[in-house]
Amino acid sequence: MMLPPELQAAIAARLESDNGAGGSRRRSAAALSATYRAGGATQAVDSASYLVARLPATFAAVGRALEELQARRPGFSPASLLDAGSGPGTASWAVTAMWPRLGQITLLDHDPGMLSLAAALGQAGPPALAAARRLMGDIGRLPEGVSADLTIAAYALAELPLARIAEAVRGLWSASRAMLVLVEPGTPQGFARIRAARDALLGWGAVPVAPCPHDRACPVSGSDWCHFRVRLPRSRAHMHAKAATVPFEDEPFAYLIMARAGEPTGGGRIVAPPRQAKPGIDFKLCDDGRIVDRHIARRDTADYRQARKRGWGDLFVPPQHE
Ligand SMILES: C[S@@+](CC[C@H](N)C(=O)[O-])C[C@H]1O[C@@H](n2cnc3c(N)ncnc32)[C@H](O)[C@@H]1O
Repeated sequence: MMLPPELQAAIAARLESDNGAGGSRRRSAAALSATYRAGGATQAVDSASYLVARLPATFAAVGRALEELQARRPGFSPASLLDAGSGPGTASWAVTAMWPRLGQITLLDHDPGMLSLAAALGQAGPPALAAARRLMGDIGRLPEGVSADLTIAAYALAELPLARIAEAVRGLWSASRAMLVLVEPGTPQGFARIRAARDALLGWGAVPVAPCPHDRACPVSGSDWCHFRVRLPRSRAHMHAKAATVPFEDEPFAYLIMARAGEPTGGGRIVAPPRQAKPGIDFKLCDDGRIVDRHIARRDTADYRQARKRGWGDLFVPPQHE
């Protein structure tokens, strides 16, 4: 999913009016990356740096998760959204890009500066974004009566201790009338939060939509962690802020989509980059509560041709069943 041109223009205008020199923004972008690596809070970094250095990547990760939601549940079209830990409204932009008929958005954050920024950027967006309700609050203790068809917490649980995740997720789940989407950095710690959330949600009867194709215990073990990658283009400002030399970056992310109704998809999720060699392609799949290897031989021409289209993060469908 591409960053909407209206959002790009709104960010560019914001940066233009922010008289900070590129050099100080570069220092801020470096501080931002260091803060995230150390597990620090967004409040410690300036919002212009967030718009340049992080928003494009968090947007791409949320967009990838929403594409998977749309593919698995094509009939789902939310009328309302709760964007919990909204920051500048990144997830709300992605949801309105996916479902333009979305009617009502609630932005919740404990940082008033982020809520103001989300409101300012939202003026350039579709009517639901421009009219979004802003709520100051704690993601771990949602205000009474907040609910929506779709709740998203993107890169927001990261700022809570692991011990508080289940309690926070209980509130988010209670607020979700149909669907809950969690997106976290694709690090072992990010996955640990996703796994803790999944364990709790399964106990409350939630149904996995993606990436898990099953509702059994998570089979990921040892030093492994379930995560995916999304590639995104870097703008000139983004490259400058990060002193980058290539015009793209790969954002690792972990995610979880849980529904109130329906059944798990079944089949296998490709949980590592497929390995292509002369005899064929090897896939690592999460399938029915197990991590399994699947080999598709090059000599099985039709199967091989189909398998070549599958990548890390896709659902693996046995070619003969397509
Ligand atoms: C890394 S930013 C992510 C923003 C946005 N969701 C995105 O994907 O770009 C985390 C946001 O969560 C907010 N946040 C962190 N902990 C929170 C809490 N306990 N209650 C409410 N908001 C919180 C921060 O203020 C920040 O705006």
